[in-house]
Amino acid sequence: MRIVRSPRAMQRLSLQWKREGKVTALVPTMGALHAGHRALLRAARRRADKVVASLFVNPAQFGPSEDLAKYPRSFAADCALCRAEGADVVFAPDAAQMYPPGSSTWVIEEALSKPLCGAQRPGHFRGVCTVVAKLFMLCQPALAFFGMKDAQQALVIARMVRDLNMPVRIVACPTVRERDGLALSSRNAYLGAAERRHAPLIREAIAGAARRLGRGEGAAQVQRRLHAALAMIPGARVDYAAIVDADTLSPPSPRRTGGALLIAVAVFLGAARLIDNERVAYR
Ligand code: PAJ
Repeated sequence: MRIVRSPRAMQRLSLQWKREGKVTALVPTMGALHAGHRALLRAARRRADKVVASLFVNPAQFGPSEDLAKYPRSFAADCALCRAEGADVVFAPDAAQMYPPGSSTWVIEEALSKPLCGAQRPGHFRGVCTVVAKLFMLCQPALAFFGMKDAQQALVIARMVRDLNMPVRIVACPTVRERDGLALSSRNAYLGAAERRHAPLIREAIAGAARRLGRGEGAAQVQRRLHAALAMIPGARVDYAAIVDADTLSPPSPRRTGGALLIAVAVFLGAARLIDNERVAYR
């Protein structure tokens, strides 16, 4: 496995693979890898000739008061995990090379980026779309793997790829969880012992909402109860708790048949902002 730091060297290598007819898969990450990232790498390994894992804590997607400076970093362990999962390249550029002085071009998706995390984190999806578009140019993947834990992110990226005719297939992979239901996240490292004990209640509140929707309760009422259940978690502050159409992220349409709803939440628990979600078929 090679570690590539320079964007130009990465692009040279990926263009060479392309000329050789190789299919490249990209797994974009911000490092601090866990079993959720591992699942993406495994899925990528099954489907491609060359697997690139990018490790880049992207400053452009963090707000001024967010956790960029203290985002967990574990480069050596990350490289070991990538090697164990058969990655061909770890691409780990530094911020100065990814965003040289005078960088003034951004990729902005203007519909799916607006609600949920987009409303709470202004500029976040602009940063995500821009860096992912740059990673696509640098790594030339035919396939790129994203986790459903970040369901809105996966939708926004798929829309960007469609709208800008990027020749990349987006593959969305299921959320990997701890045994007690907590979705794996690099930010779980911020949780204190008591917060960690309470964190699975987020998943339980979502599961409760899914059961209510399944029984035919109205989305507005289920959303209110979900918010209340999350607010009861000791030490929690609800950032949002929403039930939306899973394809458009707009308020659910009562007349719709087929498709799915998305139960989506973001909760601050101590220093950690945790997100989770579940899809439920319209009934
Ligand atoms: P990061 O949070 O490191 O996540 C990288 C990828 O791993 C994302 O596609 C995310 O959805 C997926 N992932 C995280 N936790 C997961 C879990 N428990 N189960 C399954 N997949 C999981 O998301 C980002 O980085 C960044 O925004 C990025 C796309 C790299 C752009 O900077």
